[in-house]
Amino acid sequence: MTVNIILLGPPGAGKGTQARRLVEERGLVQLSTGDMLREARSSGTEMGKVVAEVMDKGQLVTDEIVVGLIREKLEGSDAPGFIFDGFPRTLKQADALGELLEGLKQNVDVVIEMQVDDTALVERISGRYTCGNCGEVYHDKTKPSAEEGVCDACGSTDLRRRADDNEESLKTRLLEYYKKTSPLIGYYYAKEKLHPVNGLASVDEVAAQMKTALDKL
Ligand code: AP5
Repeated sequence: MTVNIILLGPPGAGKGTQARRLVEERGLVQLSTGDMLREARSSGTEMGKVVAEVMDKGQLVTDEIVVGLIREKLEGSDAPGFIFDGFPRTLKQADALGELLEGLKQNVDVVIEMQVDDTALVERISGRYTCGNCGEVYHDKTKPSAEEGVCDACGSTDLRRRADDNEESLKTRLLEYYKKTSPLIGYYYAKEKLHPVNGLASVDEVAAQMKTALDKL
């Protein structure tokens, strides 16, 4: 049986952190549209340049581009299930995902809504850095790497801060979330898929809250 999980929450809610745990614990495949778009921008193509400009401002990339990226990953995949991290982000994307999964005779099984207040988000985003090699996520205060400048997970020294992790684009990212993404809370509640978790809790506690929902599937 395949299991498809959506992680829904504002920037910095902890979607990427929890998605990586689920990959390790359950063998599911993480589909992060943010990571796919960052890959596209570093490719230097015309599409990558357009994407970079939009992302740096904190705005959403067009539905057509993002749905196209997800379609490519789903078609022909024999994965036991997916963790959608940062997708869908608009009602149009949610409808498109429903149709894509229906075509594969699959469903969205659960939507984990990660609830975190804006003050915590600013602190999380401003202290975040990630490994450019393996994607491990760190934080200056709450989760620094054991050895400064070296990734605990893979030993790489390519630790980076994201171009859009600054106060100005975070403001726009939050506005985009409340205007365009938060309506998905009602959308999935109506479909009886929504499972809210307290994203302010520790990483382990959030994972335990998610486990309660996932064990019911
Ligand atoms: P994306 O990469 O998806 O960024 P985001 O949604 O803004 O989310 P983040 O990656 O910033 O945060 P997160 O929730 O994963 O938190 P994390 O685990 O890292 O998107 C970037 C851009 O791409 C968008 O702005 C848009 O332009 C474009 N884009 C992407 N998808 C799109 C789509 N579908 N449609 C259109 N455009 C799209 O954690 C954050 C920090 O907090 C870390 O330092 C971590 O260590 C720490 N932390 C995590 N959990 C906890 C905890 N429980 N307690 C304490 N600290 C914690």
